[in-house]
Amino acid sequence: MKKFTFLDYYQNEVQLAFEDNPFSNNPGHVWIVCRFRQKWLLTHHPRRGFEFPGGKVERAETPKEAAIREIWEETGGEVNHIVQIGQYMVQGKAETVVKNIYFADINQLVEKDNYMETKGPVLFNRLPEHLNDSYSFIMRDEVLPRTLQHLRTKKMLH
Ligand code: GTP
Repeated sequence: MKKFTFLDYYQNEVQLAFEDNPFSNNPGHVWIVCRFRQKWLLTHHPRRGFEFPGGKVERAETPKEAAIREIWEETGGEVNHIVQIGQYMVQGKAETVVKNIYFADINQLVEKDNYMETKGPVLFNRLPEHLNDSYSFIMRDEVLPRTLQHLRTKKMLH
């Protein structure tokens, strides 16, 4: 298995692989790289900044269900197609987080009154090479560029 190991924004060790479930069959978290009409669909977190939607898997839901729910809650996006592309594990100071990475095509953005704990959807034509602190820390380590590279290599971006 090809595995990438690096430090995140807070110097925690991260392991990343573009396989189905390289680290855990029961990941606690999900993170979804979203495309809507040839744009990137992110959410605006009030403290962390811009990030692709994601969050925790709740009891009685599958990770994929959690991914679809989080996209809806944080952006109002309705999923046309969603596929798991990888998984990463963060060795935190207190806990270890395992997160599934999905790639989703969104076919509709519904305007809502409430985007849960976020300020709702934000669309970008392109993501800059270097992400400043208007972006969330989860976007500012090797997970994002390696994921985008993987999508390009697999010709999944149109
Ligand atoms: P809430 O209950 O939502 O407040 O979450 P929490 O503060 O318990 O944090 P969570 O369980 O989401 O994550 C625990 C720790 O794992 C965080 O403090 C981060 O250090 C780390 N972490 C979570 N998600 C990511 C991620 O996508 N990337 C990186 N690098 N670290 C993450």
